[in-house]
This record gives sequence, C-alpha cells and structure tokens, in this order.
Amino acid sequence: MSFIHLEQVSKFFNKSLQPAVDTLDLEIEQGEIITLLGPSGCGKTTTLRMIAGFEQPSTGKISIGDQVVYDDHRSLPPEKRGIGMVFQDYALFPHLTIEKNVMFGLNKWKRSERKERALEVLELVGLAEYANRLPSELSGGQQQRVALARALAPRPHVVLMDEPFSNLDAGLREKMRFDVTNILRKANTTAIIVTHDQKDAFAVSDKVVVMKDGVIQQVASPRDMYRCPKNCFVAQFLGKTNLITGKLEKDLKHVTTTIGTVCLPNQTDGMCENVKLSIRPEGCQIVAEGEGSYCGTVDRVTYSGEYQELYVNLQSDPSAEPMVIYAPMEQDIEVGSVVSFNIKSDLVCVVE
Ligand SMILES: Nc1ncnc2c1ncn2[C@@H]1O[C@H](COP(=O)(O)OP(=O)(O)OP(=O)(O)O)[C@@H](O)[C@H]1O
Ligand SMILES: [Mg+2]
Repeated sequence: MSFIHLEQVSKFFNKSLQPAVDTLDLEIEQGEIITLLGPSGCGKTTTLRMIAGFEQPSTGKISIGDQVVYDDHRSLPPEKRGIGMVFQDYALFPHLTIEKNVMFGLNKWKRSERKERALEVLELVGLAEYANRLPSELSGGQQQRVALARALAPRPHVVLMDEPFSNLDAGLREKMRFDVTNILRKANTTAIIVTHDQKDAFAVSDKVVVMKDGVIQQVASPRDMYRCPKNCFVAQFLGKTNLITGKLEKDLKHVTTTIGTVCLPNQTDGMCENVKLSIRPEGCQIVAEGEGSYCGTVDRVTYSGEYQELYVNLQSDPSAEPMVIYAPMEQDIEVGSVVSFNIKSDLVCVVE
C-alpha cells in the first residue's frame, strides 16, 4: 500500500464556482520525492494545504502511513499528522538564532535532546557553524536550508515544501535544487514539493504530478513525462513542442502528416485513426541538403546561448505553423535558406 493516499479529494471554496481541486486521486510511496507542477491557480497549494491539515477538503479521504488523517468522520489537526512544512517565505523567527529556530519545532522533546537534535539537523544541512547567527545574517539559500532543517528536526513522516526555490536567483536556485534533494534523501523522508517551474520539478523529483484546473493531467517520472506527455497541455507545459495532426497507418507505427510520414518510437496500442503528434524541437536534426526526409525554409532564428531556435516554414505545407527546431550553435544557418532535416522517433509521441 502507498504511504500517502489521496482518494477522490475535492475542494470547493465556493459552491457556485469550479472546484479548486477536483476529485484528485494520488498515491505516493515512502521515501519518494514528488512535485506538484502546474500553472498559477491550478490547485497545487490547496492540495498541499489539505495534506498538511491547514485546509479541509470538501469531500474525499487522505491517509498518511496507516492513519486516516481526513475523511467524512475525522480530521486530524496539522500537528498530529507527522508533517514538516517549509513555507515559501521560509517563515523563520527573526529574533531567534538559527539553533533556536530549529529547536522551536521540538517543544515536546526533552530539553537535553532538543539541542542535540537541532545541531544534528544543522549538520545535515551544512550549517552547524552558523547555529548562533540570526536569520538576517544568512543568505537566501542558507535561510532556506534552516527552514528545511526546522521542518526535518521532529523527524516528520513527510516534508511539504511550497515553491521552495521561487525566492532564489537563477544560480542559487540550481544549487539549492541539488542541495535540497540531497538533504531529503539523506534524511530518508517522503517529500511533496509544489512548483510552477518545470526545471525545478524535473531536477528534484522521482515523480512529477502535472495539474490543470484542479485536475491531475499526468503522473510520471520526469523522463517518461518529457518523452511521452499524455496530452497537448502536458506536452506544451513541459517545453516547446510541435503539435501536428495526422493519420495513423495500419502498422500502428507510422503517421502520415502534411510534413510527410513520421515514425513513432513504438507501435501505439491502436487508438483512433486521426491522431495528434508532439515532436520536440531537439528531436529534429538539420542535415546536409537533400539528406533529410523533410525540408523547409528558415523564417526566423533566435539564439538561446546553448542552441539556436529555428522557425521553419514547411515546403510540403506552407499554410502550417512554422516548425520549431533546435540546432547546435556551430551550424551556420541563415534566414531564407532551405534546410533539410530528419526527426528522431524517440522524441515523437502521440498525444490526446
Ligand atoms: N482561501 C481561498 N478562498 C477562495 N479561493 C481560494 C482560496 N485559496 C485558493 N483559492 C482559489 O483556488 C484556486 C487554486 O488556488 P491555489 O492557491 O491552490 O493555486 P496554485 O496552483 O498554488 O497557484 P500559484 O502557482 O499561483 O500559487 C485558485 O482559483 C484560487 O483563487
Ligand atoms: Mg501556490
């Protein structure tokens, strides 16, 4: 049985409006790090707050470990759910030292053990020598690690983090993704992290849960989700992609489209004949003239620093949206030139 289990959980803030969270089913294994990913207002924070016990579901059931923490008959208060929460703004007490901030969550522990445990978790997050400083004397990344240490101190079953990286600049953000994952793994806790940033989600999680309008769209590992997004929304939310309609051939492995025949990585399991494909820009490779299966005219080139983004008008279908293709920086490609390209089937998939 899964460690955290949400069954048919809904939340209506206003009965006359759409629910903020709509009959959500989710299972999380012990020790797993998962992220709730989705655009603003899709219900991520509400879901997290219902698991924490700060918000009551309108309907449904939530279990943590072997305990039902919410259903029609009961609702355990947050402090009895064995969770540690890291708030977006860290919520450290400004007048207390780092050590006292971490000890705050241990008020039920024996006096002698509180200090020992605080130092142990500060060691875990690499801040033992800062124990006597005030929060204002630490950097943003360090403050965040203190907040994580405070959440971990009482040995919670689950750590919940709402937008943990949003206050950090790009460089620090990358480092903290790595540090936070490492700390959570060492502490061996189950964690649920909320983010609207696909890079955060992919860097830190075993499993990503993509939400839209209160409804789960897909649950998968970062790799599977990127390669096989279930629908157009997920495909587009995870990065640029080309959505092209076509007809599935009888062999269930090829799709005839206006750009030509596109090969799928595997046989699909017999859906309807009319299908939509997601083709990632990095799945298209520019090759020498005449050597590619597809060709078009370069309409626009933008440079990202790591690659160049080409917008290519297809010769086979001039009325179609230009195809987006990522090409290595070293390839010399000019606007107006005709390019020939191939499509790697690994980065093609059928979407709903
Ligand atoms: N206390 C509340 N009262 C009324 N409506 C609320 C309340 N909290 C959230 N909502 C609504 O519920 C929906 C989901 O909100 P939620 O905060 O869960 O979104 P989110 O995915 O965390 O978004 P963001 O990325 O912007 O933080 C939104 O439409 C929001 O306006
Ligand atoms: Mg939120």
